[in-house]
Amino acid sequence: MHKKVLVTGANGMLGQDLCPILEKNGYDVIRTDVQTLDITNPDMVETVLQKETPDIVIHCAAYTNVDKAEEDLATARKINANGTENIAKTCGKIGATLVYISTDYVFAGNGTKPYEPTDKTAPLNNYGLTKWEGEEAVRKYCKKHYITRTSWLYGIHGKNFVETMISLADRPEVKVVDDQVGCPTWTVELSNGIIKLLGEQAPFGTYHVCGSGKTSWYGFAKKMFELSGLKVNLNPCTTEEFPRPAKRPSYSVMDNHGICRNWEDALADYIKLRKEV
Ligand SMILES: NC(=O)c1ccc[n+]([C@@H]2O[C@H](COP(=O)([O-])OP(=O)(O)OC[C@H]3O[C@@H](n4cnc5c(N)ncnc54)[C@H](OP(=O)(O)O)[C@@H]3O)[C@@H](O)[C@H]2O)c1
Repeated sequence: MHKKVLVTGANGMLGQDLCPILEKNGYDVIRTDVQTLDITNPDMVETVLQKETPDIVIHCAAYTNVDKAEEDLATARKINANGTENIAKTCGKIGATLVYISTDYVFAGNGTKPYEPTDKTAPLNNYGLTKWEGEEAVRKYCKKHYITRTSWLYGIHGKNFVETMISLADRPEVKVVDDQVGCPTWTVELSNGIIKLLGEQAPFGTYHVCGSGKTSWYGFAKKMFELSGLKVNLNPCTTEEFPRPAKRPSYSVMDNHGICRNWEDALADYIKLRKEV
């Protein structure tokens, strides 16, 4: 029998890539978004999950505006922490496996070697804090869980760094920060990583599901322009030169233990696919 998977935030950037990939892998998928399953409404969460009785819930819904979260902690917390608690409590009750998408921003980013899933967390900004509170709710209320931390996510269906860079390509100069290092991750790679964990029945717990290797935002943009064949006057700058409301970790590299491919190979496939659509 096919396993039933309910996806929250299915209309988001990740959700739109994840759902068809799940279907291709033989799962029956129930797509939900804020209209059909508002995660901040505990009664709605309970009613929908009790009715659908999914074997697995992949919880992609989130408040993802990192800078706005600095001035609106209440809304970020309501969605990322309280909303996740609602999902985790009901998954615990109905015995569903919960996959929670978390972030590298749970770390302080002052390390010098790739973060392991067990390393100490210390979020620098409200988004990271509320996503970490979501992680804690998952650990507390749903034993059958995979917390999958990802980073620097891009995909065909959402606003993201790659698409922003491409939209700036015809400017006389494009400056990109070179002193923040991390692991770019294509939504398709993350989706495949989640399916791998589920398919292999990996032990429940916390995983890093991000591209292998590392680069700076500048290095990411440089590679992306090269692969796209775009001639751009691209120059590195410092975080100080490009201040943002939310602090970003400077070293955001996570050890993924080989679950996803190298970020450059994934980016090459993304650029190829992007040209075809
Ligand atoms: N993007 C990144 O670089 C990145 C990095 C690390 C981790 N992540 C995590 O990866 C996951 C997917 O990210 P994404 O980039 O695909 O985000 P996204 O495009 O912003 O999608 C999030 C989805 O959640 C929905 N949502 C918001 N509030 C909701 C609510 N109360 N109930 C139900 N749905 C609600 C949004 O709907 P509306 O659009 O209508 O608000 C949107 O469809 C998130 O958990 C995020 O925290 C992302």
